[in-house]
Amino acid sequence: MKVRAKETKRPLRMIVANWKMHPDSVSEAKALFLASKKEAMRRKNVQTIIAAPFVYLAELHTRAVGARVSPIMLGAQDVSGEKGGTHTGEISAEMLAGVGVSHVIVGHSERRARGENDDIVAQKVSAALKKGLVVILCIGETARDTSGNYLSIIETQLRIAFATVPKAILKSVIIAYEPVWAISGGDGRGQTATSDDVHEMVIFIRKILTSMYTRPSAERVPILYGGSVGGENALVLMQQGMIDGFLVGGASLKPHLFGAILTATNEK
Ligand code: 13P
Repeated sequence: MKVRAKETKRPLRMIVANWKMHPDSVSEAKALFLASKKEAMRRKNVQTIIAAPFVYLAELHTRAVGARVSPIMLGAQDVSGEKGGTHTGEISAEMLAGVGVSHVIVGHSERRARGENDDIVAQKVSAALKKGLVVILCIGETARDTSGNYLSIIETQLRIAFATVPKAILKSVIIAYEPVWAISGGDGRGQTATSDDVHEMVIFIRKILTSMYTRPSAERVPILYGGSVGGENALVLMQQGMIDGFLVGGASLKPHLFGAILTATNEK
């Protein structure tokens, strides 16, 4: 099944909850989804996307009101770069679209750490876009250095991931800047990037996209930040980092913390 590409327009703010390999049971997943949805429904300026483990997606879809028009949408955490066939354990973009998934995270650093390189990421980006999914492309350096090498890592990740993505499809792309050194161990409390770090990176990402496409199309791509985001740092990152929202790990598992991030994003 091919679904129509959902247009992602700035300046709609958005929050993507990356549940990673949580929770442990379908009943807990349903409860967490409903609690997150309750928080999301109260913040009308924010589009919320819940990226749940594959096995819960079909079940959760029935709980996402009106799918594409609701303030809460469903995402997957990965997708195969293959269309279908003899690929044991893989999940295709078509399968995801078929169970009501609209967004997919591609190139998360936890997948890159398991051997996913930029070429594989590019293949996944292309496979997902072909089936009308919105791609949330994760990019980020493992460490900061004083000579600016981290910027060339980001540039390479972007250029390879989008090498075959035409300008017309760029509207179905979201970029999540997640410096690997800022990702928490699961409790959402690690070393957060400063708003200056984030702002510098937003400018840099738009510069690279402008050189690949055009300035107006580069300006329309939403850029999220991820890495130890919580209620206490979300507002300053939104206001001074010049981002369009967040990719949240640990704090998305606790509805009251997730609600605090939603409030900051909603009120920017
Ligand atoms: P934390 O919010 O737990 O740092 O995780 C960030 C992340 O990896 C989201 O994809």
